[in-house]
Amino acid sequence: MTTGCPAHVGVIMDGNGRWAEKHGLPRSAGHKKGAEAMEALIKYAEKNTDIKYLTFYAFSTENWSRPKDEVKSLMSLFDTYLDRLIADKDRHDTALRFIGDRSVFSETIRDKMSRAERKSGDDKKLTVFIAVNYGGRNEIAAAAKSLAADVKSGKKTDEITEKDISDRLYAPEAPDADLIIRPSGEKRLSNFLLWQSAYAEFWFDDVLWPDFKGSDLIRAVEEYKNRSRRFGGI
Ligand code: FPP
Repeated sequence: MTTGCPAHVGVIMDGNGRWAEKHGLPRSAGHKKGAEAMEALIKYAEKNTDIKYLTFYAFSTENWSRPKDEVKSLMSLFDTYLDRLIADKDRHDTALRFIGDRSVFSETIRDKMSRAERKSGDDKKLTVFIAVNYGGRNEIAAAAKSLAADVKSGKKTDEITEKDISDRLYAPEAPDADLIIRPSGEKRLSNFLLWQSAYAEFWFDDVLWPDFKGSDLIRAVEEYKNRSRRFGGI
């Protein structure tokens, strides 16, 4: 039995640094090119696939340990992207949301994130989640913390179900991930969508993220369609 188009695809945008090195450019140029690849892929997916949710791993809770200059260039890229989203006069074809712990960002950035989200609207054919200061363990811990508070205040009984956790994730409206894509030859999850990937299929490839195109997405989706998903059954 084969599977239809994945509803929710997660993408680990890896290989920006190696792409830059290969082209004799600073790492920041790799991230810039990576951000362009992300924007192009969003447009492509919206027009050419039936994917309903796309989640991009842009900055992890662990990425703060990178050299100061690199963190600065990633944050500046993010800030410019937000400004562009807010200023964009075109109709937004996709609903855009940010997932992750926003508390570390300045009020100005948090405000821009909310404005960009509101501007993109909802009820679109495609919803894009961009994970910034995101960590899967951090997300589950935050859900557990919120659950504990609800039990303590009597808002909830101590009968804890999986749904109680799912409902408290950063994007409770998103279904579990069906397919996780990781380019650049690495084969690990790196704290991305831990809860949501319980039954996800994985697709790995050597292409570096800045070179990733619509045709690579199609290759991943086609391979996914030929996988047999059993969810623990037979
Ligand atoms: C991993 O590649 C990539 C990142 C840590 C950053 C990903 C971010 C982007 C593509 C930009 C997103 C931009 C916006 C505007 C949301 P790496 O640097 O670890 O590459 P390497 O393993 O080859 O060194």
